[in-house]
Amino acid sequence: MSKIKRTALVTGASSGIGAAYSDRLAARGHDLILVARRRDRLEELAERLRSIHHIEVEVVLAELSDQQDLATVEAMIAKRPDIEVLVNCAGLGALGLGVSVDQGSVDTLVKVNILALTQLSLAAARAFLERKHGTIINIGSIIGLMPLPGAASYGASKAYVLHFSRALQAELASSDVTVQVVMPGMVRSEFFGGKPTPFPEHLFMSAETLVDSALHALDQGELICFPTLHDPDAWAGFDQARGHLAKELMQNGVPAERYCQALAV
Ligand SMILES: NC(=O)c1ccc[n+]([C@@H]2O[C@H](COP(=O)([O-])OP(=O)(O)OC[C@H]3O[C@@H](n4cnc5c(N)ncnc54)[C@H](OP(=O)(O)O)[C@@H]3O)[C@@H](O)[C@H]2O)c1
Repeated sequence: MSKIKRTALVTGASSGIGAAYSDRLAARGHDLILVARRRDRLEELAERLRSIHHIEVEVVLAELSDQQDLATVEAMIAKRPDIEVLVNCAGLGALGLGVSVDQGSVDTLVKVNILALTQLSLAAARAFLERKHGTIINIGSIIGLMPLPGAASYGASKAYVLHFSRALQAELASSDVTVQVVMPGMVRSEFFGGKPTPFPEHLFMSAETLVDSALHALDQGELICFPTLHDPDAWAGFDQARGHLAKELMQNGVPAERYCQALAV
């Protein structure tokens, strides 16, 4: 990304990865719109970034599971030509065994992790296509590739982020709109709510290191970024296998031979 002053809108800016994105984008010279629910956190961050980086920072309080608040943020993206970067970082885990997790938390997870990210990405894609430039950064998670007990809805929501972002990348490939999907491993943040996690400390990365890696990847044109992946061929192999499976699945409309006897085909 160049050093030209332009505005980045960051959801989930009040802590963790979103706060780190805000800091790093401010250092790159972007004005900022910080979106989340906690006013004190956002105001504090805004004040700090204004005084260090001499940029303009606006604070937008939004409950992204609320359709009205979401529409307000969407309208900003649609109407403000200075917005050229969207970081969809807001998210929650609703972790625990699926049968035990409170249904309200799962509903909120679907609304924030999936619906809000989709609505804001598409609003940005429309606006950026018209403006002939723009960057959308969606925060997924490695758990989107590995269904795990205790994180059924969360993992599925992150699989959605990967799938959706990749399809959007393909749709916008011939345009000047960039879509990057970032797939972090474990990151030190407030995400686990201060509760002990089953993961050892050495698996955790700082939010700042994650964001620095992902922005470096973006600068290099790497549109699917796995910051902890040391062997990029591992992903290439996985993706190739997926392509091979897709070809197998799309051969024709005839049931596989092993089902034919039962179906008397
Ligand atoms: N930490 C990890 O290990 C990890 C790993 C992979 C991916 N991720 C993803 O990274 C993203 C950021 O997580 P984090 O680790 O930085 O956790 P975090 O510190 O808990 O940050 C979550 C952010 O989302 C915002 N948010 C949550 N619910 C919201 C709602 N209903 N409406 C509006 N904003 C909401 C929070 O702000 P308010 O509470 O102020 O609204 C906060 O700014 C998430 O999408 C998460 O899934 C995290």
